[in-house]
Amino acid sequence: MTMDQTTPQPEITVADAKDFLPLLGTDHVELIVGNAKQSAYYYMHAWGFQPLAYRGLETGSSDSVSYVLQQDKITLVLTTPMVADGPLNDHLNRHGDGVKAVALWVDDATQSWKETTSRGAVSAFQPETREDANGKVVLSGIETYGDTIHVFVERKAYGGVFLPGYQAWAPSGGAEAVGLKYIDHMVGNVGWGEMNTWCEFYAKVMGFAQLVSFDDKDISTEYTALMSKVMSNGNGRIKFPINEPAEGRKKSQIEEYIDFYQGAGVQHIAVATDDIITTVTELQRRGIEFLQVPKSYYDDLLDRVGAIDEDLEPLRKLGILVDRDDEGYLLQIFTRPVVDRPTMFFEIIQRKGAQSFGKGNFKALFEAIEREQALRGTL
Ligand code: FE2
Repeated sequence: MTMDQTTPQPEITVADAKDFLPLLGTDHVELIVGNAKQSAYYYMHAWGFQPLAYRGLETGSSDSVSYVLQQDKITLVLTTPMVADGPLNDHLNRHGDGVKAVALWVDDATQSWKETTSRGAVSAFQPETREDANGKVVLSGIETYGDTIHVFVERKAYGGVFLPGYQAWAPSGGAEAVGLKYIDHMVGNVGWGEMNTWCEFYAKVMGFAQLVSFDDKDISTEYTALMSKVMSNGNGRIKFPINEPAEGRKKSQIEEYIDFYQGAGVQHIAVATDDIITTVTELQRRGIEFLQVPKSYYDDLLDRVGAIDEDLEPLRKLGILVDRDDEGYLLQIFTRPVVDRPTMFFEIIQRKGAQSFGKGNFKALFEAIEREQALRGTL
C-alpha cells in the first residue's frame, strides 16, 4: 500500500470513525519468544500475571508451545517454536522476542475479515472455525505493519478457558497481581515516511480515525526526533499510536528500534492501573526497571500541571511522570526494554480524566532514552 506523501491529508476526526468493524476490545496479545516457559515465569512473578491456559506436547501441539497469562482484562500469549524451521522461527530470528499478533475481540470474525480485506487489507489467514467440547471459536487474520498481524476473535459460542486446543493451566507458586487492568494503547513503530501510510491503513481498512498528531517540533530533543499520530476505533476502546523516525542531530529512538527489530513492530504496550503508586512500587520491588528522569523534573511539576491528588514524594521516589490536558491529568512511567534488544517496553498509565498521551513529558522522557542510547552506543 502506498500513498503520495506530498498530498495534503484531510483532517480525520473520531466522529468520522466508521463502524463497519465494531471492536469489543483487545482479546489478547501474542508474543513470539525464545523460551516461553521462562517468559511465563517472568510475566507471572515480576508482572503479576496469573496462569490461565497452556498448549504444548501434552495437548497434541508438537511444533510450538504457548502459555496464556491474564491480569484483569489483559491476556498475554507467549509462544515458542519447538522445531527448527518455520514462520515462528523466522519471526524469532529476525525480530527477537516481540509481538506477533494483536488480537481483537469481535462479534463476527468472518465479517471482520471480509470488511477489512475488501478495503485492501492483506489476509494473514482466512476465517477458520476451531471447536472442542466447550464450543467453537471463529478466527481470522489480517496483516498490519512489519510482520505484525491482527487476529479477529469471535468467541460468543465458546465457554472454554481460552481457545480450543488449550487446556486450563494452574501451576503452583506464582505471585499476586499488581493492579494492571486493561491495555490502554499499543504503539507501533514504522519506518521512515511510513506513518501516514499506516494511519491511512487504519482509517480506510479498519475505519479508525485520528485522535491527535505530534510532529518533530513537539517530539524532539537536541538529538532525537520522531513523529506520531494516534489512531482510534469508533468506541475508543482500541488506540494505536503510530510513530516514525524524524531527522535529528543523532539517531532517532525509533530508528534504533527499527534497526534492532529489523523492521516495523510493536514498540510499547501501555497498561492501565487505578493506583499507579502501588502498582509501580510493587513492580520495582520485583525488579522491573523503569526509565528515570532527573529529580529536577519534580521541582516545578506542580507549577506545570496544577494540583493533583497524589503526594509528590512517592512520585519523585518512583520516577512517575504527570501531565495535564483539557480534561484532566494522567500519571505514567515507562520501563526500560523488557528484552535484550532495545525494542519492546511497557508503559504503566493511570488516567485521571486526561485522554491524551503525556505530550508534556516527551522531552524529559526522550532525554532519558537518549542517555540509555548513548550507553548502548546507538545514539
Ligand atoms: Fe504510550
